[in-house]
Amino acid sequence: MTDERSVLDAYEALADEFAARAPTKPFNADLERPSTRQLFPELDGLSVLDAGCGPGITTEELLDGGAHVVGLDVSSKMLGHAKARTDRDAAFVRADLSRPLPFRSDTFDLVHASLAFDYVEDWQSLFSELARVLRPDGLVVCSVQHPVAETQRLDPDDYFEVETVTETWTDFGDPVAVPFHRRPLETLLNPILEAGFRLERVREAKPTKQFREKRPEAYERVSKEPTFLCLRARHDP
Ligand SMILES: C[S@@+](CC[C@H](N)C(=O)[O-])C[C@H]1O[C@@H](n2cnc3c(N)ncnc32)[C@H](O)[C@@H]1O
Repeated sequence: MTDERSVLDAYEALADEFAARAPTKPFNADLERPSTRQLFPELDGLSVLDAGCGPGITTEELLDGGAHVVGLDVSSKMLGHAKARTDRDAAFVRADLSRPLPFRSDTFDLVHASLAFDYVEDWQSLFSELARVLRPDGLVVCSVQHPVAETQRLDPDDYFEVETVTETWTDFGDPVAVPFHRRPLETLLNPILEAGFRLERVREAKPTKQFREKRPEAYERVSKEPTFLCLRARHDP
């Protein structure tokens, strides 16, 4: 089990610097977000849950696209930044994705989650809750750490085990220890399929031209090696 308190502590500590840097940080702004965004459906009029919304960067993009958005995060500080960022009428909820979600069944057309599901250990419960709160035919669009990238970076003793790993982040101000769950590909995909979702599209994140301008030395590597895995799955029970 992850020490959930540690994830919360980590994101409370990271919130201010994450909110300041993530809007333009190349790995987020020019690699993960554009790759995930390509999986969005037409947004106008949709009811969307932005799960693990952080400081609301994608929440704002979803609102710009004409969606009605609820942003959810476990960190109050992140939610404070998200509220400040979106001066239009998104609703925000403090809740834990590891627990039953505080929404009625059949509420949303789309659940978006950028780099948030890596912190949830039990994907069976998570995707069964997402299936419940989505309307029939609803979509999940999410990005997670790519299992191949994690295997290269972390060199696990046993690839097939789901393990809790703590990495120290230094890209957002003072070093912060961030725990997350590394999982093999089958443990990533099977809970989605078993909850009644059909995978519609898979993208392995690719950097934009802006990434090359900002980080030419890293561009070569992220153009040729996996970083983030982006999925679009439709609830099709
Ligand atoms: C890497 S940040 C991504 C934020 C945002 N989606 C973005 O891409 O800018 C991960 C976010 O997930 C949130 N988070 C982590 N574990 C969570 C959980 N169990 N329930 C809800 N939110 C969680 C964190 O507080 C943080 O805001």
